[in-house]
Amino acid sequence: MKDLFEFERPRQRFAVVGHPVAHSKSPQIHRAFASQCGLKIEYEAIQLDRGGFVQGIRNLQAGGLKGLNVTLPFKEEARALSDDLSDRARIAAAVNTFVFADDGAIFGDNTDGVGLISDIQVNMGIQLEGRHALLVGAGGAARGVVQPLLETGLAALVITNRTVERARKLVADFQRIGSVQAMAPGQVEGQRFDIVINATSAGLSGQVPGLPETIFTEEATAYDMLYGSQPTPFMLWARSCGVSQAADGLGMLVEQAAESFFLWTNIRPQTDSVIQSLRSGR
Ligand code: ATR
Repeated sequence: MKDLFEFERPRQRFAVVGHPVAHSKSPQIHRAFASQCGLKIEYEAIQLDRGGFVQGIRNLQAGGLKGLNVTLPFKEEARALSDDLSDRARIAAAVNTFVFADDGAIFGDNTDGVGLISDIQVNMGIQLEGRHALLVGAGGAARGVVQPLLETGLAALVITNRTVERARKLVADFQRIGSVQAMAPGQVEGQRFDIVINATSAGLSGQVPGLPETIFTEEATAYDMLYGSQPTPFMLWARSCGVSQAADGLGMLVEQAAESFFLWTNIRPQTDSVIQSLRSGR
């Protein structure tokens, strides 16, 4: 039935903030979710100056926005600005979603980890329980997914990084949550993993992290948290090592967006059609 009061109700407004942010697919994703759910929302991509995050957020909040997605390089600043944090944002030490309460309080959450796990377990149908996983990288992107990975019941999680000290530091922070250990890239020689997740930014400069070609089990999956219009360098490298299942992070992007959308609207959108339309460039 048509909502008679539809015209009187202001559209809820949201945005993604980052620097740069023009390339972001979030507006397209959230507008698709809204149209699928019959909601009228506005969702924009807004670039903030690197030194102007806090003022920019205050302005948007005063302008009546209900929530924001926060992308690079502001996720740590977003955590610091939050009045209240979800457990997963506190543990990730980063916030990618703000919910603005009517009283002006900012709730900070992090939906990146759950986005990764949903993409792997639901969309790709790969159960992680009892599996051996290698997480490559030890920056903010890696930190954000360690706890959700451990919560899947992995048999073992190894974190490796070009700078091994950063991997050790990350492991120290998560040791109490589950079985996780740090290794230098050379140390993983001789080990086999069911899933190898690339959380490095190496692909942005066309590079792949230096890893032995023998780290994959026969049925292994390679997952790159980066995505692009073409298979990423990490996916190509994994395929050259004999891996048949190699995925990029587009599904993770849509899944983290769906979780943010749920936080704002209490509606869980369907993601598969949105992933498909992004893949086909529509
Ligand atoms: P992000 O927030 O995206 O994780 P970051 O904190 O700068 O960004 O971390 C980037 C990650 O990619 C790090 O793990 C980095 O390795 P170092 O800690 O040794 O710098 C990794 N990385 C970037 N370029 C890389 C490359 N060419 N080879 C291997 N690892 C790389």
